[in-house]
Amino acid sequence: MTDAAWTRLAAAPQLSLKDLFAAEPDRVERMSLTEANIHFDFAKTHLSQEALAAFRQLAGETELAAKRDALFAGEIVNPSEGRAAEHTAERGQGAPESVAHAHGLHLRMRALIDAIEAEAFGPVRHILHIGIGGSALGPALLIDALGRDAGRYDTAIVSNVDGCALEQAITGFDPHATLIAIASKTFTTKETMLNASSALQWLEEAGVDDPFGKVIALTAAPDKAIEWGVDETRILPFSESVGGRYSLWSSIGFPAALALGWDAFESLLEGAAAMDRHFRFARSRPTRRSSRRSSTVITPMSAAPRRAVFAYDERLRLLPSYLQQLEMESNGKSAGLDGEPVVRATAPILWGGTGTDAQHAVFQLLHQGTHLVPVEFIAAIEPGDRLDPDHHHQLLLNVFAQGAALMAGKESDDPARFYPGDRPSTTILLDRLDPATLGALIAFYEHRTFANAALLGINPFDQFGVELGKQMANQLDNQSALDFDPSTRALLHRAFGDETE
Ligand code: F6P
Repeated sequence: MTDAAWTRLAAAPQLSLKDLFAAEPDRVERMSLTEANIHFDFAKTHLSQEALAAFRQLAGETELAAKRDALFAGEIVNPSEGRAAEHTAERGQGAPESVAHAHGLHLRMRALIDAIEAEAFGPVRHILHIGIGGSALGPALLIDALGRDAGRYDTAIVSNVDGCALEQAITGFDPHATLIAIASKTFTTKETMLNASSALQWLEEAGVDDPFGKVIALTAAPDKAIEWGVDETRILPFSESVGGRYSLWSSIGFPAALALGWDAFESLLEGAAAMDRHFRFARSRPTRRSSRRSSTVITPMSAAPRRAVFAYDERLRLLPSYLQQLEMESNGKSAGLDGEPVVRATAPILWGGTGTDAQHAVFQLLHQGTHLVPVEFIAAIEPGDRLDPDHHHQLLLNVFAQGAALMAGKESDDPARFYPGDRPSTTILLDRLDPATLGALIAFYEHRTFANAALLGINPFDQFGVELGKQMANQLDNQSALDFDPSTRALLHRAFGDETE
């Protein structure tokens, strides 16, 4: 049904960036907008007004607005699992009963944080947060980005089943002053449960009284946590309808709320809510009644098979890995909602790093390589450091210079010194990096991912692609090596000898 719109899109004239600027004297104004203290500049992308119009038609044909309304209404938007996706209810935007439920669970989390601060658990200095994927990447990003000056608790986030991760995390931690937060939506994830058992053993071996009393569970499966041994009073539940990679707003955000303070956590939620409202009420083009356009709708329109994200802000160094899960686990699909194969690129292959470091490592490929990689730059106008202001000045000059250089290119008779230019980039400029702005930025990415899925006709809320490898790992653990292919058999033999046969 949507093929006509995709065909129109493909037929839209492909102008160079230079020609687009020449044809549209007001391009910067048309292709940029500011929302929730975040300025989005899409002018240096190849989106023409014709392409935007074709995308708008596509949005109409794929019923993006109806899908968005269904998301906020708490309807089933994840049909393969028969679930709603109610992460926005965590920040007060959604079905009233879900908002009320989330609010109640937040109050419970706050009460536990108050108790920890009041030393109900004795003097606590260290928080060992154990979780993986969506149960780790969000809290890690928040604490790394905003917790540098907080100094409230030493927090370590352990995700990898590789024992080196846990060993490194607890080095320097006093087991008698440590709380363990086990974060797992399902409370069955093997890596997390093994790390949790080893952490508990560490407390036991150190002679901590009642090690289980030092464990807090963050989960949508409280029964499983109780079965594992966590007391009900120390379980912070969240709703089954909050997906793992969308869960940092729920009790999964507990270590961040503890490390940053409750007020900061609330500001984060408020910032996200501002972006929710933007997604709900702004339009993909200005109308007579509203001049507000939607960034979340415009950006998927510049969707490409790959994207590089560079944070020109050390505090956002974990953002690319957070976005990798958000976009690639959500939209890395090849079947549509109708069960038919999707014939076009779905989630971009997303990678990235921090500027200016990346300029001295991977930018060669961006400027002169044969792959066209749309780049997303993120920076904050206000510095995060207190050093000589020249640090931040140089940082911003560099980020702006890279976008300009990618677009302009440079002529040369010497092929080695020739820069083709015409390479697209988007710049996202925050007024400052604070909890509210970071909340808005993350919510923007969530909605962009959702809008992208809607245009493609895929379900962004399941992740069956990760299951096969988990099943295979179990089979390798429990079955004879002879049941596997010759290459895997040989690897097993080399690592474990005869014991696998
Ligand atoms: O294996 C993928 C996944 O299910 C992610 O979607 C999720 O964020 C992660 O594992 C952790 O799952 P859980 O929170 O249930 O431990």
